[in-house]
This record gives sequence, structure tokens and C-alpha cells, in this order.
Amino acid sequence: MGRILVGIGGGIAAYKVCELVSQWVQQGHQVKVILTPPATQFITPLTVSTLSRQPAYTDADFWQPTGRPLHIELGEWADVIVIAPLTADLLAKMAHGLADDLLTSTLLASTAPVLVAPAMNSTMWQQVSVQQNYQALLAWPRIHSVGVRAGLLACDAVGPGRLAEPWEINTWVHSLLLTQGKRDLQPYKILVTAGGTREYLDPVRFLGNPATGAMGIALAQAALSRGAQVTLVYAHTTQPIPAVAQAIPVTSAQEMYAAVLACFPTQDWCLMAAAVSDVQPATYHPTKLPKQALPACLPLQLAPDVLKHLGQIKRADQLLVGFAAQTGDLETPAREKLQAKNLDAIVANPIDQPGAGFGSDQNEGIWLDRCGQRRVWPRTSKLHLAHQILDAARELYVSSSDSSASSVG
Ligand code: CTP
Repeated sequence: MGRILVGIGGGIAAYKVCELVSQWVQQGHQVKVILTPPATQFITPLTVSTLSRQPAYTDADFWQPTGRPLHIELGEWADVIVIAPLTADLLAKMAHGLADDLLTSTLLASTAPVLVAPAMNSTMWQQVSVQQNYQALLAWPRIHSVGVRAGLLACDAVGPGRLAEPWEINTWVHSLLLTQGKRDLQPYKILVTAGGTREYLDPVRFLGNPATGAMGIALAQAALSRGAQVTLVYAHTTQPIPAVAQAIPVTSAQEMYAAVLACFPTQDWCLMAAAVSDVQPATYHPTKLPKQALPACLPLQLAPDVLKHLGQIKRADQLLVGFAAQTGDLETPAREKLQAKNLDAIVANPIDQPGAGFGSDQNEGIWLDRCGQRRVWPRTSKLHLAHQILDAARELYVSSSDSSASSVG
């Protein structure tokens, strides 16, 4: 559990941040909130102090002679700082290192990672001055941004400037708490696959599987928060799709094969977390089959094995990680798949344990790699497991790059 300091700026999206404060408290985090003077026009200190079970701080507290300066105390207390909504004014102050109020002074008195969530009218967001300030702010190593979303704004404009969705901010904050804000995947292009493919027999019937896409999407979000350029190819999922560099929806194994193959040559890593069907109906009927026309035995044919094909074409500078969702013995089939598909590593996870695997928030797994490393990860959140997988993948990738460089030398 972490100590989350929330700085609320003066924008209408401030009301959404109240919900996040409440969620974080319910999740067991300690939450303290600073309201800028304009923020108090939108929500009251009473609202956030009630939700956070802590006093809500305003500029009135900044000037109280209470011993150790409040901005130092708060800046040192925080494990992570969240600024939402980041208004144009707050952005300008932060970008130029101004410290004329409690929130901006606290930011400068802290070394904690900072997540900003900008929100403002589209015309304001697109001003050269605002974009210059935003780029200047992103150059700080401590600053992470969840970006803005496009859509209908409270001022009736339609365009970029909406606050990112609360679940995106929530997941990113959890990543920062887990990684202390490290951006160790910044140079990498990472392809992640997620979800379960569906192999249609006709427009209403398909062969599918219970995958929800949660593990793959957690991997994509974890990689995004660590600076990677993420491409997500996703089949059926119950999860919302994060704002990765490229998100490609697919339905069938065949479509996944085509999408993944098109992206793969430009990628450094591929993490193949999707549950891809092994078979597809031999014939697709473009119109709905009446019940009487359904065959007693359904003729099937093999679907393309995407991962196996990637294993055959991958370059030495690419890292390929497969997944093996298993019942019973985890390791023997996973080791076989590691070899048979020419993978760099495989993550085996049980799907016959209550509370882990398909449809659960949690997962556990065993990492096996081509260098003989074996790591056992006990049950944890899928986001935490995703970060552990990325740590292991990075270690393997860096050590392989180092050894190939020294063998050239
Ligand atoms: N996979 C794939 N294409 C398929 C089937 C699987 O790319 N048609 C990938 C999965 O995304 C996963 C890995 O292969 O990363 C292992 O998938 P799994 O279903 O466990 O193994 P299979 O090779 O299909 O073997 P089996 O079903 O016999 O266990």
C-alpha cells in the first residue's frame, strides 16, 4: 500500500478525481489532498477530507506557522504525486518551476514520481504556449503523463482535452507505486497480444475461450508506464483498451496472425498473452444456419499458430515471450512449448486454481527462459505480475544484447 498525494487543479474534471480519492482509500492506500485556490471553486475541502479521511490542504494551510513547513512534510511523505486535472495555469507554473502556492512548492520539495492528467478546453490545449509547456514538463524525469483524451468536453466543444478515464489514472498510479516511476523500457517497441480469439461458424455461433484479456492488457499498461512504445493486438476482451501507441482489434486467429505478422518486424519484443484458438470451423457460413442445418459433428481445421511462426522468423535482436495457461502440471508442457516454438521465455500459469487465471484480477506464474532461468511468482495482482514479467524480460534482453556485443568485439 502506498502514500498518494493528490493535487487537484481548478477544472470541472475535479469532480472525477474525488471518485479516485475514494477508491484509493478503499484499496487501503493513505491519501492526502491539496486543493489549489481555483479547485475550491469546483469542490470543497470538506468533500475531499471526508473521502480521504485526512485534512484537505489549501493555501490557507501553507502560511500557518506550525513548525516544519507543510510543503516539505507533504513532499517527503508522498510515494507518488498525482496532479489532476492539470489545468493550463498549473501546467505553466510546473513547467517553469514556479512555487508560489502549496501545491507547486510541494512538488519542488519532493523527489516522488508525479503523474499528471491534463484536462482543459481543446482550443486551450492546442495553444502553442500550452504545448510548449507540456513538452517542457514531460522532459522532467519524474513526470509521467497519462495524456488527454478526445471527446465531448464540458464546454460543449468536441476534441482533445478530456481527462483520461479514472481507471487509466488508477492503473498508472499503481504502476508508479510498484516501480517507483522507473522508465527502463523507454527505448523499446513492445508488441503485446491480449484477449481470446473467436472462430465463427456463422454470424451468431463461434468457438471461443474464457480469456478476458486482463493479463495482456495489464502487460500493455505496465509497459506503457515504463516508457515503452506499445502496440496492442487484441481479440475479444472485457477490459477497456489503454491509450497505447497503436491498438489493433481482431476477432479470429487468422486475423491475429495477419495483424501480428504485419507489426512484428519493427518490434523489439513480442509478449504473446492472447488465448489463440488452435482450431477453426472448416467452413464459414455467411448467413445464420437454421438449427436443422447444424451438423452433428463440426468439421474443424487447424488455425495458424502465430507464436510458432514468430519463433521461426524472429531475428536475434528480438525477444519473444509466450504464455502457457495450463491445468495440472505447469512446467513440463511449458518447457516443451518453449523449445517447440523457439521462444526466449515462457510464462506458465495455472487455470485450475480458484482465484487465478481466466476472469480473475489475480494471477501467478512460472517464468522459464532459454538461459535456464526459472522464476516462481506467487499469486498477486495481474498488474504486479505484469511488472515482474517485464523485469525478467528486460534482464534477459539486456544480457543477450550484452553477450552478442561482446562476442562481436
Ligand atoms: N498460440 C498462438 N497461436 C495459436 C495457439 C497458441 O500464437 N494458434 C500462442 C499463445 O498465445 C501462447 C502460446 O502459443 O502464447 C501457447 O498457447 P497454448 O494454447 O498454451 O499452447 P498450444 O501451443 O496451443 O498447445 P496446447 O493447446 O496443446 O496446450
